[in-house]
Amino acid sequence: MKYYDKLIFELGRKGRCGFSLPACAVRESDFAGRPLWRTGNSSELSASVWRESPLDLPEVSEPDVVRHYTNLSQMNFGVDTGFYPLGSCTMKYNPKINEEIVSQFNGIHPLQPAETVKGVQAVYDFMDKALAEITGMKHFTFLPCAGAHGELTGLMLMREYHMSRGDLARTKVIVPDSAHGTNPASAAVCGLDIVVVKSRPDGLVDVEDLKPLLGPDIAGIMMTNPNTLGLFERDIKEIAALVHECGGLLYYDGANMNPLLGMVRPGDMGFDIMHLNLHKTFSTPHGGGGPGSGPVGVAERIVPFLDIPRTSGFHGNFGIILRACAYILSLGRENIKLAGKFATLGANYIKESLKDCYKLPIPTVCKHEFVFDGLAEPNGVSTLDVAKRLLDYGFHAPTIYFPLLFHQAIMIEPTETESLETLDAFIDVMRVIAREAADDPEMLHSAPHNTPIGRPDETTAARQPILKYVKS
Ligand SMILES: Cc1ncc(COP(=O)(O)O)c(C=O)c1O
Repeated sequence: MKYYDKLIFELGRKGRCGFSLPACAVRESDFAGRPLWRTGNSSELSASVWRESPLDLPEVSEPDVVRHYTNLSQMNFGVDTGFYPLGSCTMKYNPKINEEIVSQFNGIHPLQPAETVKGVQAVYDFMDKALAEITGMKHFTFLPCAGAHGELTGLMLMREYHMSRGDLARTKVIVPDSAHGTNPASAAVCGLDIVVVKSRPDGLVDVEDLKPLLGPDIAGIMMTNPNTLGLFERDIKEIAALVHECGGLLYYDGANMNPLLGMVRPGDMGFDIMHLNLHKTFSTPHGGGGPGSGPVGVAERIVPFLDIPRTSGFHGNFGIILRACAYILSLGRENIKLAGKFATLGANYIKESLKDCYKLPIPTVCKHEFVFDGLAEPNGVSTLDVAKRLLDYGFHAPTIYFPLLFHQAIMIEPTETESLETLDAFIDVMRVIAREAADDPEMLHSAPHNTPIGRPDETTAARQPILKYVKS
């Protein structure tokens, strides 16, 4: 263990301090004999919630604090650390110019009256128009705080639409078997029953399986296009016509919008409601749910059901909207098309370069991502082993065991900003791992070997994480 791998509590020494302040100008007696940690307003807080002793904070020097946090930040993997081909998640590089622009708006106070922050409103208005133009929707709401939240919002709009027409029997939503897990989850939270439509062997929605499912109880269908296998749903026009004919609506899960940017619009495919994950397609940082943005766009007939205002309190998640705005404006109308083209080119390049050593269940041209089904010759080596070994070589693992259609799924999505050299380096390492699987499978079962922690029991780590320091 390296010295600075220690917890900050272990680095601390009693009396050590990282700062110096001038002598306190407030007299001790001003606190009416109460110790500083008891300065809570006694009229509001009952004595039982007062702290009886100071917090047990680590006492460390400034260099120790800086090294602690810097080292901690390097124990994780991010888009700024290396190639991050996490399929379905579109781990785009976050351009630094976005941060620069956002920093100009740092002074805005959340409680500032709307008339003093007209620039904020102008950004929202611009984004409403820009996203409408990109997607073919009429208007957007910026209330939802993540892609999945957008799904729920969109389904609630769908329900409102049907209810406003007295069409109360529409309580079911159709979801393809390749759908992302949040789709059926959002439908269930919205109180809708889920009906699964099967995919054909070529990975696309089976229109013949869909037809008998359509009827007066169908509220709509949720689809991702390209779907979670990275394949463009070529029958989308026919599907849209069939769903509309039966009185249902089409919901577009925009998580896979990246390859279509500036090329094809969900509105033109026949979708009525959709969300965008700004953190996937529009280069804003990932994090818990986004962080915090899944704008929902709607076709004209759904506009009356949108809530007003269309941003959440305190100017909404403005920093994220502004970053996405900076990204759109940096690319411009013409160059935005290149993002999807390069992402698609990169994905197909990796797929074709590795298909002799990894099983390729659907050997067609993909969009921005594709799925392998484990090693061509596994020799007992699982997809999890491959993913863990990649970390040893400095690459983040692709998405694994999703979509559920394949038992050993490895879902690779390179994104458009990766150079040919990076893609080649990744391909080389994937080939090395395939060779290691043949020569030394045991070593792969215990990978990773070069990371701060090895291979934890993932179930225990997820279900019983130890998140606080316990003094030994
Ligand atoms: C296809 C698809 N739909 C929906 C979501 C949910 O989006 P979010 O993570 O922003 O809630 C994801 C997230 O990975 C996704 O890949």
